[in-house]
Amino acid sequence: EVFVLNGKFVDQNNAIVSAEDRGFQFGDGVYEVIRAYNGKPFCMDRHLSRMKQGLEAIRIPMPLGIKEFEKLCNEALEKSGLKEALIYIQVTRGAAPRQHIPPKGLKPTFVIIVRGTPDIPPELKEQGVKISLSPDIRWHKCYIKTVQLLPNTMAKEEAKEKGAFEAVFFRDGIITEGSSSNIFIVKGGRVFTHPANERILHGITRGVAIEIAEGLGIEVEERAFSPEELLKADEAFLTGTGTEIMPVVQVDDDIIGNGKPGHITKKIMEKFKEITN
Ligand code: PDD
Repeated sequence: EVFVLNGKFVDQNNAIVSAEDRGFQFGDGVYEVIRAYNGKPFCMDRHLSRMKQGLEAIRIPMPLGIKEFEKLCNEALEKSGLKEALIYIQVTRGAAPRQHIPPKGLKPTFVIIVRGTPDIPPELKEQGVKISLSPDIRWHKCYIKTVQLLPNTMAKEEAKEKGAFEAVFFRDGIITEGSSSNIFIVKGGRVFTHPANERILHGITRGVAIEIAEGLGIEVEERAFSPEELLKADEAFLTGTGTEIMPVVQVDDDIIGNGKPGHITKKIMEKFKEITN
């Protein structure tokens, strides 16, 4: 594992931030998770530009330019010696005596952590997973990848207790996204996913999956769907940096399609594997 704190390589024991850091006290910051395949970060430019947009949205200055972040991430990845890795980046507003309004001129705190990928058992990709529905109690700026993840971690834990791989949120009669993934359904040969608005994170893998589907001549509609439509779908799948493309075969007690990963899902997974190898 490699730790970089405010641009300096440190050991984990020295990767320490202030108790007055606003990331710690207010969840005042954003993060990114980038997957490296075969020693090469996947879609790093898209992740870093999303991070830049997130920081702009909450008015934290970028502590480094995109090019410098890119260089530092590559250096950290190389130092880790890992070919398959996750690169975690977090930027917070910085440290200051606790008060809601941040003082002007704070220096953002930023960390980069590189570690191995979590092992997702390969049979999950082959057999598909169960998901569990959970009310979306989050705020209305879900496109910002903030470190305020309590609704997400709580939902994920409840899903796990129900034997589900992921919690999928619904709000106002529509499915939004997973606790750490986006969700797609396939119906009548067409692919549907929630539009990229303020209700969801605009997942990088979501974008890649849409491009893959369109490249395969499959029609994609960015249109929200209801829990009922999900249950009646022919196929469903999740997308995410850690999750990659994961077939969904069960929603709580209901089986999706024939209970096996669907053929359009498999085609998209195959192509995804191709471009990440
Ligand atoms: N989560 N939606 C939410 C709420 C997420 O947290 C994530 C990613 C996604 C998928 O986005 P992407 O394809 O860009 O990874 C969707 C990261 C991986 C995490 O929190 O670990």
